[in-house]
Amino acid sequence: MSDQTDETLANLLSEDRRFEPPAELAAHANLTADAYAAAEKDREGFWAEQAERLTWATKWDQVLDWSDAPFAKWFVGGTINAAYNCVDRHVEAGRGDKVAIHWVGEPADDKRSITYAELQDLVSQAANALTDLGVATGDRVAIYMPMIPEAVVAMLACARLGAPHTVVFGGFSADALASRLEDCQAKVVVTSDGGYRRGAPSALKPAVDEARTKTASNGHRVEKVLVVRRTGQDVAWDDSVDVWWHESVEKASTQHTHEAFDSEHPLYVMYTSGTTGKPKGILHTTGGYLTGSAYTHWAIFDLKPETDVYWCTADIGWVTGHSYIVYGPLANGATQVLYEGTPDSPERGRWWQIIEEYGVTLFYTAPTAIRSFMKQGREIPDARDLSSLRVLGSVGEPINPEAYVWYRHVIGGDETPVVDTWWQTETGSVMISPLPGVTAGKPGSAMTPIPGVGAEVVDDEGRPVPNGSGGYLVLTQPWPSMLRTIWGDDERFKDTYWSRFAKQGYYFAGDGAKKDADGDIWVLGRVDDVMNVSGHRLSTTEIESALVSHPKVAESAVVGATDADTGQAVCAFVILRDSAIAEGEADEEIVKELRAHVRKEIGPIATPREIMIVPELPKTRSGKIMRRLLRDVAEKRDLGDTSTLADPAAIEFLKSVSS
Ligand code: WTA
Repeated sequence: MSDQTDETLANLLSEDRRFEPPAELAAHANLTADAYAAAEKDREGFWAEQAERLTWATKWDQVLDWSDAPFAKWFVGGTINAAYNCVDRHVEAGRGDKVAIHWVGEPADDKRSITYAELQDLVSQAANALTDLGVATGDRVAIYMPMIPEAVVAMLACARLGAPHTVVFGGFSADALASRLEDCQAKVVVTSDGGYRRGAPSALKPAVDEARTKTASNGHRVEKVLVVRRTGQDVAWDDSVDVWWHESVEKASTQHTHEAFDSEHPLYVMYTSGTTGKPKGILHTTGGYLTGSAYTHWAIFDLKPETDVYWCTADIGWVTGHSYIVYGPLANGATQVLYEGTPDSPERGRWWQIIEEYGVTLFYTAPTAIRSFMKQGREIPDARDLSSLRVLGSVGEPINPEAYVWYRHVIGGDETPVVDTWWQTETGSVMISPLPGVTAGKPGSAMTPIPGVGAEVVDDEGRPVPNGSGGYLVLTQPWPSMLRTIWGDDERFKDTYWSRFAKQGYYFAGDGAKKDADGDIWVLGRVDDVMNVSGHRLSTTEIESALVSHPKVAESAVVGATDADTGQAVCAFVILRDSAIAEGEADEEIVKELRAHVRKEIGPIATPREIMIVPELPKTRSGKIMRRLLRDVAEKRDLGDTSTLADPAAIEFLKSVSS
């Protein structure tokens, strides 16, 4: 771990503020302190109890089969339909008139509330339409959409058919979409003409067209593209492939008989960045995943489905949107807000206006967003009535104590617990978090593993570190919503997550963490080549590959530099290919071109904040890039005495960046 993280940590560990749960919340909490011991005593029994919150077509015979570890099977022999659990069963229980989704479009007054009964019709129609397009159980369907209800409907329709979906974040480029379509061999893509972003329509369909052409040239044919008309903008149309949603789904029957699938039937594949250039397709299956997302959403937000209004601001293109917009909340029969746009459109107080309008009680967002609101000043949220809020959640990156305290104080009126939830695409649901009715929260700490989960901080040898020390974050026990493999690559799955602490059989999360004097966990960030920019996972290698795929770049190195707003920021160092540079071409022009190139290859979220053109990259004698030094440069740290650096290339590099 770097000196800088150590320093941050020293500050964090001297944090001594504690926030006790509000008495009222504690008195009626869904989960109480005794759950920890109960789960510890009989972990499988505890998880079996959690699985009972779902409706199974056939009950399982065995809770966990770990005989082929690390390939897990949960609720073996059970059969279940995820969409039925998220929709139909609530209607059958007489709650059809309850609002499932209060959808808020970005343009003011563009809104729509959908009840569970209406959602049942929509999902059935979409399932029928997808079947007509040739989608059968087991086929993969890609979803590339803005935050509109049809995105949720499409996901649930796939789940209903047992056709695993792969949702690709709408901010990813055509190239990034193409590589995902190819990797999972998607048969159909569901998209829209576009969505609204900061007051203007932003197109999506052209990227699908481009991705389709690209995959075709690599031998993979996407058969059909189902298109929602959202913005009304012009789209290119191929009658043999493209189908309008309003001409198919909306005309389809609202009757659809669902089938129950094996508990281990694939539910979805979510691509995420790893340490190599190629994103990994994380596979989640049905019964265990739904158990994990429903249980955690109920426990960590203390969800009271009859009275709460929940809102998670994530995009459905990320795992948070999967577990805490679609599967968890809907399996629990919650009423939630779904918002299409950006926080500051048409006005900077848009989020607070939405909370006031819908009386949101449970709110889940990311530290980056909180920090940007802090910067804008408290007058903006203060102008709204936020007194409905009772639990605030944070996810995606470490929350700094200042942001935590501001969140609690300004947004939560000093009364709401803040639950700092640690988890990953791979874990499927939250693993480490305070419980709002039990835990006395510490600003900046994710605290302890929730009941049912085993987590530790270990040293290089896999031994638990003593309180007050740091190490690697591991999960010590299998859990129901764990990833089952990397799509099409069992070896990489074993290697990435299970080889580091194979002897102990621990899951290696790739994060560094410390235990404080009380043994509570403080997650510090990645210990591998994965960056976390505004809560989005990005791979340094993937961006390096994108840069060197440009003809003007000979070599590149990318690091994540600490950034006060976005947590980390992408900083790239490049060596140019002299032969490809025109006489007199200005560096600024080249940098502009390279930034545009990364945007095209991966997407705007991966665009480097900074690109430095350098003559050399500092390397160790064995040829490894000295990333720590690059980070120091990117963070503009005083490099101190560099005369001891042995490598002449490193010295030349430093001279070039300090001039
Ligand atoms: C980071 C997002 C500190 C961590 C759900 C993890 C966090 C990665 C927290 C997973 C948190 C997530 N505190 N760090 N509360 N939550 N992280 O797969 O580095 O997009 O490994 O899943 O985000 O990112 P992913």
